[in-house]
Amino acid sequence: MAQTPTLSSESAAPPGSGAIRFNGVRVGFTRQTGQHVRALEDFSLDIPAGQFVSIVGPSGCGKSTLLKVLSGLVEAEAGTALVDGHTAQDSRERIGFMFQRDTLLPWASVEDNIRIGADLSGQAPANMQRRIAELIAFLRLTGFEKSKPHELSGGMRQRVSLGRLLAYDPDILLMDEPFGALDSQTKAAMGQELLRIWAHHRRTVIFVTHDIEEAVTLSDRVVVLSPRPGRIRLDLSIDLPRPRSAAQLRKDARYIDYIDRIWSQIETVS
Ligand SMILES: Nc1ncnc2c1ncn2[C@@H]1O[C@H](COP(=O)(O)OP(=O)(O)OP(=O)(O)O)[C@@H](O)[C@H]1O
Ligand SMILES: [Mg+2]
Repeated sequence: MAQTPTLSSESAAPPGSGAIRFNGVRVGFTRQTGQHVRALEDFSLDIPAGQFVSIVGPSGCGKSTLLKVLSGLVEAEAGTALVDGHTAQDSRERIGFMFQRDTLLPWASVEDNIRIGADLSGQAPANMQRRIAELIAFLRLTGFEKSKPHELSGGMRQRVSLGRLLAYDPDILLMDEPFGALDSQTKAAMGQELLRIWAHHRRTVIFVTHDIEEAVTLSDRVVVLSPRPGRIRLDLSIDLPRPRSAAQLRKDARYIDYIDRIWSQIETVS
């Protein structure tokens, strides 16, 4: 049987690093019409270092805004969003963002797209080349190093995006519906890929999704938001053993119960 490729452990985050604290965050936007929209109001959430948290909630409730505040792309009107006590300005290079839409450079090869992440991380060139090769093997992209994005399937493109994020090697992974556009089989496979990486690196992950099964399968914790301005409706610890397999989970009464509890909150708010 083929051996599962592994990653070198040198980049594992020091213990206790990557804790996130949202405290009383308020964000508003003024639309072109002049109308003011409040996306978040008095939002507070503590995420310990290394936790995998999914955020679910109705469209427009402020999920992407939350990630943007933490990464400094959007400014809070009030409150703070801190990483290990530091503002986004001071921790920008510790945060990696993966968007739902494909942000690969169309003219660059798989290898070069992943190299962008490594370049940003400022690694020494010798380490960088080794790291890129390792990631390509780990993400099962061997043989496609020189391929351009248009020559890849949707799932492969998302694996390249994930490779770029991991080459950057942030302490915090912010993932905004990263697998939302994929078919359910590919999505499940990508989820398993992500868990394999997470088990190895234990980075803090905030994962936004509309897929409740995906949220429960992946996460230590699922946070359900109300409609805009997003407030926490349910903060649920997912106490299921790891590693998790979809086939096992489907038969687990606790898994089914978690999904029911989340659905009941979503149904009452939408
Ligand atoms: N740059 C912006 N200018 C004006 N309004 C904005 C801007 N960004 C977000 N909003 C508004 O803020 C609210 C929250 O948006 P956000 O993108 O955070 O929602 P979301 O929960 O991620 O939704 P979805 O699930 O559809 O991605 C929405 O009403 C949206 O229209
Ligand atoms: Mg969004």
